[in-house]
Amino acid sequence: MKTIKSFGELKELLRPFKCSDPGQRTIGFVPTMGFLHQGHLELVEQSKKETDLTVVSIFVNPTQFAPGEDFDAYPRDLDRDAELLKERGVDVLFFPTMDDMYPEGYATYVEVAELGKVLCGKSRPTHFKGVTTIVLKLLNIVEPTHAYFGRKDAQQAVIIKKMVTDLNVGVTIRTIPIQRDPDGLALSSRNIYLSTEERAAALVLPRSLELLRKKIREGMLDVDELRQLFRREVDNVSLVEIDYIELVDLESLGEITVVDPDKTLVAAAVRVGKTRLIDNFILGEI
Ligand code: PAF
Repeated sequence: MKTIKSFGELKELLRPFKCSDPGQRTIGFVPTMGFLHQGHLELVEQSKKETDLTVVSIFVNPTQFAPGEDFDAYPRDLDRDAELLKERGVDVLFFPTMDDMYPEGYATYVEVAELGKVLCGKSRPTHFKGVTTIVLKLLNIVEPTHAYFGRKDAQQAVIIKKMVTDLNVGVTIRTIPIQRDPDGLALSSRNIYLSTEERAAALVLPRSLELLRKKIREGMLDVDELRQLFRREVDNVSLVEIDYIELVDLESLGEITVVDPDKTLVAAAVRVGKTRLIDNFILGEI
């Protein structure tokens, strides 16, 4: 595995590969903010299966954190990450510097208007603008044929798909199911912030979503009723506060009143102590 910091060097390294068999060779790209867990490694696995060369980036992107959020505290462990990626047979680890990605005077941002204002966008209004900006920059640098994202950040995946369609970026976006710990908690680099007590309390999030999934299967399709059910479950658990529970159209992320079993995103965010956790399930395909 080659570890590369400068994007000039990365372009040089990938050039012969891109030119050697134009139109035939595929490059899979897994953008991450590091502190890798099995969720990230599944993205790598999928890229390895589907493409000829896999590039993983690690960059904790400041523009997707608002002032007061956990940018400084965000967990980092490059040595461990590099070891995990090497073991998985990743070809290139791209680890750009802050100065390269956001040099002084940096001024350009990409925003997918309405999709970034709902769900997580309500409490994190600048978050998705930071995500789309860094993802587009990385896609422009790596020029992959395929890029891989986890469905835990379902809104992020929907927004990135829309961005690459709207801006004619020639990349196929692939999404991979949520990976969970045996107790049901969705894997997240932020789970490390949880105390033992908080972690136990946090399990109400996957449990309540699973209850909604069951109720939908049994025919409860009224969105208000489902949201109330979720609220009742979570409100019973101290330490956990609901940020949102929403059932929305899977493509437009617009409000719905009745669940469409083929095209609905059921997404929730909660705060457990200082930690914000998200989780969801999807009825349909993204
Ligand atoms: O999902 C993430 O880890 C980040 O939002 C991403 C896509 C790497 C952009 O910084």
